[in-house]
This record gives sequence, structure tokens and C-alpha cells, in this order.
Amino acid sequence: MRIVAVVNQKGGVGKTTTAIHLAAGAAEAGRRVLLVDLDPQANATSGLGLESVPGKSLYPVLLGQARAVEMLQPARQANLQVLASELDLAGAEIELAGLENPLLRVREALAPLRHDPAFDLVLLDCPPSVGLLLTSALVAAEKILVPVQCEYFALEGVGKILNLIGKIREGGLNPDLSILGILLTMYDARTRLSQQVSEDLRQHLGTQVFRTIIPRSVRLAEAPSHGRTIYEYDNSGAAAASYRQLTSEFLSRL
Ligand SMILES: Nc1ncnc2c1ncn2[C@@H]1O[C@H](COP(=O)(O)OP(=O)(O)O)[C@@H](O)[C@H]1O
Ligand SMILES: [Mg+2]
Repeated sequence: MRIVAVVNQKGGVGKTTTAIHLAAGAAEAGRRVLLVDLDPQANATSGLGLESVPGKSLYPVLLGQARAVEMLQPARQANLQVLASELDLAGAEIELAGLENPLLRVREALAPLRHDPAFDLVLLDCPPSVGLLLTSALVAAEKILVPVQCEYFALEGVGKILNLIGKIREGGLNPDLSILGILLTMYDARTRLSQQVSEDLRQHLGTQVFRTIIPRSVRLAEAPSHGRTIYEYDNSGAAAASYRQLTSEFLSRL
């Protein structure tokens, strides 16, 4: 089983959209997938059409009050389970800080699943703020995937994440953490800026940048309000095609 965190300390760059569509895409490709929603805003949970139910989430697992396996919710799609978020997760940052080894909580929560043949892949949809939840996710993950919006300062943003990864590695909590790939999102082929950001990132980061680029798509922005993935909402469109292509690139990199 592989654990991949979808990370960027900026909000609105496409983390949740990417986590949902890699999870659903990999499930469609026959992998048994668990999507863990670590963001108190619960966008991954609702984007898949699931309810954020108090007491049925990652939250009690982090606090040691329940086991992950008891908290899973099946998505509509076969092969896809969700460890949902709930609003209480916002308070977990503070509650965790009072516990022993708070940074190991996510890793420990997932540990029983590690050798569970029911899962091939765990995707962690991370919150934007650099706090205990995000750091704990980085301690639990083997690889990270960084979605980057095609806008000015994109490169600086990536630099900050690479720094954070470096600190986690050097701190000894997760010495093997590595980058699976950097993903350009919300690409608008009509703008010079999108092209420039894409060229810049490839020049500095080379093959760390996924070949697949996710275009800006109104359909993609609409889908979560219907609780559906783009594969359900607009399966023949360009956005669904790009996330399918990303899924296959992602799976071959793994
Ligand atoms: N490629 C895209 N084209 C257009 N809108 C997008 C795209 N990717 C994401 N969005 C929309 O942009 C907003 C932020 O995306 P989201 O995945 O929630 O980012 P994050 O999890 O990083 O905050 C959401 O409303 C989402 O539906
Ligand atoms: Mg999000």
C-alpha cells in the first residue's frame, strides 16, 4: 500500500479536486483506494457526495477514540472508501497539541491499514495551513504530490513546500519522504502567464513536473456542487480526459 499526500500550503490551487479525481481515477483503474480528508472544510468529503457526519470521521481516530476501519464510508464508486472530515477537525489541531507525539497521530491512525490487503493506495487531501494536521500528514506519507496553480509566484510557493519537506526529512520523522510530482492546474492556454509559469517550473524542476497539465474548466468547478466527480458529471470533456491521463501518469510513477 502506498500513501501519497496532496499538499500545497496555499488554498484554492486544486488540491482537493486533484485528490478526488486521482482517487476516483485510480479506483476506476481497479486500485482499491482510500481517500482521507484532512481538511476541516470537508471539501473532498462533500465533493464525492458524502455527508460530513459528526463522529464519523478522521477526528475520533486521531484522538485515539476509534479505529480508522470503523470510520470508513464507501463512495458511490466501487473500490473507493473515504475517511471523511468534519468541522471538529479544526479543533483537533489544539487537542492534538496536548497529546503525546501529536505528529505521529496520522501515521498511527493509518498504520493498521498498511498491511490491510483491502487497500492499494491511500490519498491524503491536506488542509492549506501549515499546522499540526498538515505536518502530521507529511510524517505519514511516503510521497507528496504538489498541485500548483498557473499564476505568478507559483515557483516561490513550490520552493516553500520543498523547504518544508526538507525540514521533515532532516528532522528524522520521515527521512524517506519524497516528491512524486508537481502538477500544473487551472492552466489557461490562451494566457501568456500560464505558458510562462509552466515553462518556468519545467526549467527549474525538470521531470519532477508531471507531463499532464490540468486545464481550467468550468465543468470541473461545477461538479463538486453536485457531489459528483468530473467522470460522472462530464465524462467526455477535456477535464475528465486530463485527470484520467494524470491518473495513469501518477500510477506509473508510483
Ligand atoms: N482545473 C480547474 N478549473 C477550474 N476550476 C477549478 C479547477 N480545479 C479546481 N477548481 C475549482 O477551484 C476551487 C479550488 O479548488 P480546490 O481543489 O478546492 O483547491 P484546494 O483544495 O487547493 O483549496 C474549487 O472551487 C474548485 O472547484
Ligand atoms: Mg482543499
